[in-house]
Amino acid sequence: MSKKVAVTGGSGKLGSACVVALVEDGWEVFNFDLAPPREPRCSFTRLDLTDYGQVVEAFAGIDELHDGVDAVVHLAAIPGATHAGNAATFVNNITATYHVFQAARLLEIHNVVWASSETLLGYPFNRPPVYVPLDEDVPKLPEVAYSLAKDLEEEMAAQFCRWDPEQKLIGLRFSNVMAPADYEEFPSYEADPASRKWNLWSYIDARDGAQAVLDALAYDQPGFDTFVIAADETVMSTPSLELMDAFFPGVEVRSEIDGTAALCSTAKAHRILGFTPNHRWRDHVPGAATNR
Ligand SMILES: NC(=O)c1ccc[n+]([C@@H]2O[C@H](COP(=O)([O-])OP(=O)(O)OC[C@H]3O[C@@H](n4cnc5c(N)ncnc54)[C@H](O)[C@@H]3O)[C@@H](O)[C@H]2O)c1
Repeated sequence: MSKKVAVTGGSGKLGSACVVALVEDGWEVFNFDLAPPREPRCSFTRLDLTDYGQVVEAFAGIDELHDGVDAVVHLAAIPGATHAGNAATFVNNITATYHVFQAARLLEIHNVVWASSETLLGYPFNRPPVYVPLDEDVPKLPEVAYSLAKDLEEEMAAQFCRWDPEQKLIGLRFSNVMAPADYEEFPSYEADPASRKWNLWSYIDARDGAQAVLDALAYDQPGFDTFVIAADETVMSTPSLELMDAFFPGVEVRSEIDGTAALCSTAKAHRILGFTPNHRWRDHVPGAATNR
């Protein structure tokens, strides 16, 4: 059976892990990105997603590369609020995502998974969260241009799925993506918990993010949906409820949060997609304290 997937942003931090996971899962992978990959694991074609024609060709077929793909994993973006100016971030990201959704619609590629972001839930939490653990029912509160674009991308996805009932568009609201090399820095957060308050001390291992992409691609129901994708623990050793008391006193705690358990919930992703995060920072840092 044909399993060809176009990955946008396959040269990036999350994209590299996704390319590895997809190749290992038996997909024929085509990476489309402005930047070349650091370690090529599949074909790479340079493309600018803000040019619709290039996106249509990338998905429809390119001589000697492929003559169509079965699925799209759209990860390319300016990946945060602090990498470029507000307008540059907003315009690049929302334009790219419109082009990806529209090209998929034109070519009837119904299996599309893309990177949304936890940041639309209130980053950088200068205002307290409405409740914890954050889940898919918490009101969306984008506070910066980057997360406003992610919010509007989700709105677009809902409409694209309304237009075509066979379309699947799954938005994975990734937490802060970490590679194993990032974990050595984690113990230093303990001295300055405020430095990670902006996402309620959350993270996701890039390999677990890639697993969520595989799970979302395998999910066979059409329609639009979103899922929080995060580790099941925080980046801290201080218990999570102590952090809440110190930084967000009085915020409603809706379910039991033991020890250093995460302040965002992947229960929906587990229930519907079968997603389970398997990689923990503590397993990569010798002697890391465990309060769980
Ligand atoms: N890094 C995080 O903590 C985080 C958290 C939540 C969501 N996300 C989302 O996950 C996705 C991947 O993030 P990442 O951390 O791997 O970022 P990254 O910067 O490492 O990779 C993004 C890639 O997108 C490419 N790109 C950007 N604009 C492009 C364009 N117009 N045309 C073609 N390629 C373009 C870049 O060249 C880059 O290789 C992004 O959509 C990001 O918003 C990231």
